[in-house]
Amino acid sequence: MAKINDNYLKLQGSYLFSTIGKKVREYEAANPDKKIIRLGIGDVTQPLVPAVIEALHKAVDEMGIAESFKGYAPDLGYAFLREVIAQKDFKDRGCSIEADEIFVSDGAKCDCGNIQEIFGLDNKIAVCDPVYPVYVDSNVMAGRTGVFDEAAGQFKDVVYMPCTSENAFVPELPKEKADLIYLCFPNNPTGAVIKKSELQNWVDYANKNGAVILYDAAYEAFIEEDDVPHSIFECKGAETCAIEFRSFSKTAGFTGLRLGFTVIPKALKLDGVSVHDLWARRHGTKYNGAPYIVQRAGEAVYSDEGRKQIKEQIAKYKVNAKIIAEGLKEAGYEFSGGINAPYIWLKTPGNMSSWDFFDLLLDKANVVGTPGVGFGPHGEHYFRLTAFGSKANTEEAMRRIKLL
Ligand SMILES: Cc1ncc(COP(=O)(O)O)c(C=O)c1O
Repeated sequence: MAKINDNYLKLQGSYLFSTIGKKVREYEAANPDKKIIRLGIGDVTQPLVPAVIEALHKAVDEMGIAESFKGYAPDLGYAFLREVIAQKDFKDRGCSIEADEIFVSDGAKCDCGNIQEIFGLDNKIAVCDPVYPVYVDSNVMAGRTGVFDEAAGQFKDVVYMPCTSENAFVPELPKEKADLIYLCFPNNPTGAVIKKSELQNWVDYANKNGAVILYDAAYEAFIEEDDVPHSIFECKGAETCAIEFRSFSKTAGFTGLRLGFTVIPKALKLDGVSVHDLWARRHGTKYNGAPYIVQRAGEAVYSDEGRKQIKEQIAKYKVNAKIIAEGLKEAGYEFSGGINAPYIWLKTPGNMSSWDFFDLLLDKANVVGTPGVGFGPHGEHYFRLTAFGSKANTEEAMRRIKLL
């Protein structure tokens, strides 16, 4: 008799954003005259920049001509894209990453979810608390965790690293043994960043203990401060202990177009086995390459024109982050983030629960945000707002929040 993978039964019920969606739909049905502003889900709102649109049109036209038509893309990505990424994202920043250490994909979510497949089930994972849920859930599905402990709000056999206001939302090195360490900076949901010297401590720790750091840099494009690393490969020795995930989603508004990449240095070996080769094998077996037209659009992001346009786009989101920060300051909220990241992490007033504050904000201000507890128990009494809305909506949302 066929059997299911019963690890899936350990997963916790409804996903955070489905619960939010349901609550908002119910509220809208009961209050059809209210104009709701969504500053919850981290999706972008600005259209693709002209350089990207132009590259897409050109590539589409090529697909209609026999001489330039493209079938299956190379599994690991077209050389034109891998080379420009290696140069502009890494070599120009002093990181010695080669084009063949870059694996192009259709986004960082799949890569961060799938990467655990090439590691043994007896590895212990360490994650931040609060955390982007994909890291934990993909390991639950694989059977690398115990059951969910309702009282603790955490899975057993996972090392949770608390991120609190006391440590500026940057975790301390784990005291328990951890083999696969997930880090994400700039962070979703807290908007926190890690300084280069602090990240170097993690790299040294991983090299000393034979651990691998799975570094999610999906929000790298929002970094504006000098001492904040854009890549873990800016740290000495990272090539023997780290994998990095990048995405075009928030960098260039590709959430609907889909493009990302993973960097695995050839020097990363476990028990003499090349992790790079294992991922190449896995990618080649289970993935048939991101579309040619999308990879050409990705290439355009690195052109002079593309870079300029994307910088302007991110600057608009940063204006929103400032509007939120100034509004919260005026209204007397405690908060962090929003400088090198599109997320603002605020402490709920009067120590309200995250969900009570969600309900209050929806009901009294008609603004939707994300309850911090949805990202882990240390997110309780916190709330995430995003800078991805329109300027007008962000201003109106803050006007309403100030009136609460
Ligand atoms: C931390 C983090 N990593 C990865 C992703 C997924 O990115 P992509 O759209 O490339 O799948 C997100 C998207 O919200 C994210 O917040």
